[in-house]
Amino acid sequence: MSGDAAQRLLRALCAQSPCSGSELAARAGVTRAAVWKQIEALRTEGVAIEAQAGRGYRLAAPIELLDARAIAAHLSPVLRRRFGGIEVHWRIDSTNSALLRTAAGDERVLAACLAERQTHGRGRRGRGWHMPLGGGIALSLRRRFDGSMAALAGLSLAIGVAVVRALAKHELAGVGLKWPNDVVVDGRKLAGILIELTGEAHGPCVAVIGIGLNLRLGVAGQAIDQPWTDLATLAGTAMPGRNVLAADLLAEIAAATDVFALHGFAAFVDDYARLDVLAGRSLRMLGTPTLVQGIGRGVDAQGRLRLACAHGECVVDSGEVSVRTIDGTVA
Ligand code: BTN
Repeated sequence: MSGDAAQRLLRALCAQSPCSGSELAARAGVTRAAVWKQIEALRTEGVAIEAQAGRGYRLAAPIELLDARAIAAHLSPVLRRRFGGIEVHWRIDSTNSALLRTAAGDERVLAACLAERQTHGRGRRGRGWHMPLGGGIALSLRRRFDGSMAALAGLSLAIGVAVVRALAKHELAGVGLKWPNDVVVDGRKLAGILIELTGEAHGPCVAVIGIGLNLRLGVAGQAIDQPWTDLATLAGTAMPGRNVLAADLLAEIAAATDVFALHGFAAFVDDYARLDVLAGRSLRMLGTPTLVQGIGRGVDAQGRLRLACAHGECVVDSGEVSVRTIDGTVA
């Protein structure tokens, strides 16, 4: 899809919906024929656009487009100064990849990258991550740590806590964490976290922290092979704006990285335990060479999952397994 025309068209629809074909053409600076073509292209990208006889086109649900200035305006002045840059892309391969491609400053300097659309969004364990255009938040934050990579072992769990804190600002109830760091509501995934590290094994190293939050997946949800939910389902008409939500995520993640740099995962253990949806559940690890199953016993000080197994306690590292309940449903 030709990004600029589609982008201008969506902006015009966001500003006024319904909008007639000729008005859209004028606002987006394209021909009437191009309007039809770009509407189809936007639909292919997952934007639900209805055509109404005599009235033109309208968005099936309002979309607030991401805007770097609006995000920055929601941050505290202190935090705003710490962000060397907040990039918002119309389309990019992956926000994590974008931040991994450029160099990090010192540990006080943060960088953020967001995108309306990722063409090669990445999930954990080599999977892809897909969200419809404007239907989610794809956000990455980069930060340098002076310590070793090993010291960041529980960071992804701490970031899970930070994401729940950001959502709590919008009074979203019943949000929990499924080890290692899926953000879930009633066993359905609402957000995922992917942390990628570069630098020296013994430090300093750089963490790129990627968050994918489902806002309104619509028909795109049909392609997802695990139970999922989105904010539109959970929040209904009280749906928060995307820019304030992005700012809250950045603020909570930045704060969590500061606390983590000083105190490690120990500072998050109690909050994680309160949010842990697997504690006390019958669990089975997937992808391990031998069968590992038992009752979830929370996580240890390094963020490893503890299981009460038939022959005593087992501890499982993050990053190598999925967790399902023994009856086959996803916890
Ligand atoms: C998971 O598999 O649960 C992790 C998903 C992480 C997706 C986010 S979207 C923003 C950032 N950019 C990526 O390519 N991936 C992460």
